[in-house]
Amino acid sequence: MSKHNDIRESVSKAYADAVNRPSQTPGLCCEPVQKGVVVKSAGYTNEELAALPADAVENSFGCGNPLAFSEVKAGEVVVDLGSGAGIDVIIAAKKVGETGRAIGIDMTDDMLDRARANIESAGVKNAEVRKGIIEALPIDDASVDWVISNCVINLSPDKAKVFAEIARVLKPGGKMLVSDIVAQDLPEDVLKDERLYCSCVSGAISEADYVQGLRDAGMESVEVRERIVYDESQLAAFIESEIPKEANAPSDASSCCATACCCGPTTDGPTSEALAATMQGKIWSAKVFAKKPA
Ligand SMILES: C[S@@+](CC[C@H](N)C(=O)[O-])C[C@H]1O[C@@H](n2cnc3c(N)ncnc32)[C@H](O)[C@@H]1O
Repeated sequence: MSKHNDIRESVSKAYADAVNRPSQTPGLCCEPVQKGVVVKSAGYTNEELAALPADAVENSFGCGNPLAFSEVKAGEVVVDLGSGAGIDVIIAAKKVGETGRAIGIDMTDDMLDRARANIESAGVKNAEVRKGIIEALPIDDASVDWVISNCVINLSPDKAKVFAEIARVLKPGGKMLVSDIVAQDLPEDVLKDERLYCSCVSGAISEADYVQGLRDAGMESVEVRERIVYDESQLAAFIESEIPKEANAPSDASSCCATACCCGPTTDGPTSEALAATMQGKIWSAKVFAKKPA
């Protein structure tokens, strides 16, 4: 249990750092980090992105658009697991309209603060974010029409619990659509690279394990509806959007990098380009659908 808490603490710190990092940091030791780049290949329409507060787009750390193809209807209740700076909560709130509700859950205070500010600036009144962990959701049993999530469950140290929580909070007949990173046959050194846990790589499970985990939790009609397969440059951008490209930092600048980087060692290891080359074809974003039996 305490190992799980340690992992969540590292992940939370990494994302607090990420949301507080300027998108361009000229003059700092780490190379400038381009936030908001990956979102452009994640499946949002230009109209959707243009209608959102710029901060919600810039601080999107997702790997898909979980609401695309979701058939969410007016009046429904949507819960977003790991809602970050609020991008999908705001889009969901607009889809369900005034008679519906969008609720984001996140464990990181800095993310919750940012999401609240973005919800307010988007002018949506039917959205809120709650502090909590996705392994024990602060949501009543059988109270939700849709569970969505964007690039979060791979970060959980206890995915079986998350799948069980999804099944618990959904109403009978309720549905789930989740965009997440899945992986197959990653090289041993990538799996062991602690920096890559927080950048959604080394905690990722296979599509088959994802589907089985949801079935074991009692969900039905489980299927992968879409895949985004990254090329090498997209993979490198993905890694860098979540952890800075510290490998090229000058050695006298390590203290700056140490505060901005992720779970593990920050000043050695392969570059993001080298990592991307070994990972290509072995890791992708999957949009997974499932339904709670009616
Ligand atoms: C990769 S970011 C994705 C954020 C958002 N879904 C998006 O698309 O921009 C992961 C987010 O999930 C949150 N998170 C990770 N693990 C969590 C857990 N076990 N419980 C609650 N929140 C978690 C982090 O705090 C962070 O905000």
